[in-house]
Amino acid sequence: MKIPTKKLKNGFELPVYGLGLWEVGGRLESDISKDSEEIKGIQANLDSGVTHIDTAELYGNGHAEELLGQAIRGFDREELFIASKVGHDGKLSYDRVRKSFEASLKRIGTDYLDLYYLHLYPKHGYSIEETMKAMNELKDQGLIKNIGLSNVTPNRFKEAQKYSDHKIVCNQVHYNLQYREVEDKKVLSFCQDNDVMLVAWRPLQKGLLPESDLILKIAKKYEKTPAQIALNWLISQDSVVTIVKTSNVDHLKENLGAVDWTMEKEDIARIRKEFPNQELVSEAIPLDYEGEIAP
Ligand SMILES: NC(=O)c1ccc[n+]([C@@H]2O[C@H](COP(=O)([O-])OP(=O)(O)OC[C@H]3O[C@@H](n4cnc5c(N)ncnc54)[C@H](OP(=O)(O)O)[C@@H]3O)[C@@H](O)[C@H]2O)c1
Repeated sequence: MKIPTKKLKNGFELPVYGLGLWEVGGRLESDISKDSEEIKGIQANLDSGVTHIDTAELYGNGHAEELLGQAIRGFDREELFIASKVGHDGKLSYDRVRKSFEASLKRIGTDYLDLYYLHLYPKHGYSIEETMKAMNELKDQGLIKNIGLSNVTPNRFKEAQKYSDHKIVCNQVHYNLQYREVEDKKVLSFCQDNDVMLVAWRPLQKGLLPESDLILKIAKKYEKTPAQIALNWLISQDSVVTIVKTSNVDHLKENLGAVDWTMEKEDIARIRKEFPNQELVSEAIPLDYEGEIAP
């Protein structure tokens, strides 16, 4: 299927749904035991029309990028939108960015990235000016098409933008029915007001979103599953797209049933207000976090 896209005024465009590769090829260490099944999982996504793939140097200590490289052989690179990230530890010197970038390219087996993120804002002792200099050089050299940030507050976003000649086009953050830090800390409204794409990570809370009568009722109304409601609630909002990890073809099919329709505004608002057990700080990576932990 053709996955719908969202386009910002600045021209940046992303499919509303993409594939995430956290826990593909290991967690913090490389795990090669499921390589062939994971390559097949990535290819099932590509065969179904998923073109946006999100990875990071962190994932499986680089092995997710290697598996991605193997999975995309035989696919047209220009049809794909590949995003990766540097600096999960926040140690973002100029040299680190340049070296990590080269290593990511090599592992993926490509000569450019469509989007390159700072995984976290540089931690204390590292200068955002220096980090953004490296990111801007990569963009000027045509090695990356777009610059993104991840897990940052509006103030940190503005600070990074101050040192970037190029528009920073997205902020990738923890956002789902339960985890609402980006609403509470005004990241969502900042993105919507400033022509920035919000890329929602962990949209299904790894399949562990709390059960809710409200979601069951709304699922019945739209003749959808709770997972489809969870995904559609995100992407029905302005400037929001999402990424999901799945290697399971049934889950993939279910998730793609969330992308080609729009929830009514009243239902979006009702779910925003009434969904139970909401949390205002990410349990994995709080927005003001400074380096060292993994998701
Ligand atoms: N920027 C950051 O700091 C950051 C942090 C965390 C994650 N991310 C990115 O965001 C992506 C998505 O987040 P995530 O992987 O943490 O969580 P997620 O996508 O919410 O959940 C993935 C888990 O849910 C399962 N799943 C997928 N579809 C399902 C469905 N329809 N029903 C039931 N279970 C389903 C998957 O298993 P199956 O494979 O069996 O389907 C997998 O175990 C990551 O892969 C990564 O690329 C970024």
